[in-house]
Amino acid sequence: FQAKTMQGLKILLTAGPTCEPIDPVRVITNRSSGKTGYALAQAAHEAGAQVTLISGPTNLPCPHGVTRLSVQTAQQMHSAVMKHANDSDIFIGVAAVADWRVANASSEKLKKTDGHPPHLEFVMNPDILAEVASLANGPWCVGFAAETSLAAKELQSKRQRKGVPILVANLAQQVMDTDHTTIHLVDETGMTALGTGHKLDVARQLMTEIVKRYRQHQA
Ligand code: C5P
Repeated sequence: FQAKTMQGLKILLTAGPTCEPIDPVRVITNRSSGKTGYALAQAAHEAGAQVTLISGPTNLPCPHGVTRLSVQTAQQMHSAVMKHANDSDIFIGVAAVADWRVANASSEKLKKTDGHPPHLEFVMNPDILAEVASLANGPWCVGFAAETSLAAKELQSKRQRKGVPILVANLAQQVMDTDHTTIHLVDETGMTALGTGHKLDVARQLMTEIVKRYRQHQA
């Protein structure tokens, strides 16, 4: 039995990496399996929410009952999110969005016979989470941070910089390519350890904490 604590809520999530083309056969990407985001989407659906998952390329099946929209690049993810943001109650940005894309991407395959490596120029991608968080009537926002060390003070300033009520932090070296995770929840009261476990169990626990805080905020 699963309590339907999220009945009537519309949840929008991003998950997975984004892939930024260099040329038609080469990309720059981030290491992300998408497992945490997909587990959260499943947990939200189990709790009765209507779930839209905007996903970069992963090998994962779409969780039962979840609407998935597949994208490749950060710009595609950005426009898909902006289309749905105003119609969502909660936005959870789990995706490992590439911070930069190649400004001078080639429409033709770059040839090695040129004898020298290409000179790539980069431009910043939009910060999807920060933009959703700044919408006037936008959803309540949760961000993620995969860091190589967890310093409460730095995480608190990242949370404030992004303008989100909740930032979920995990250790990059512990979370990648595994089915287990350890997460910390950072909100205006400080940092709380939420425990370690299988990503689906941790996702269910995290979703309960998110909904609790969302309801308090609504009250
Ligand atoms: O700044 P940093 O990339 O560490 O922040 C991580 C959080 O911001 C994640 O929730 C991620 O999904 C989101 N993000 C985003 N768009 C970007 C970069 C990060 O939505 N361009």
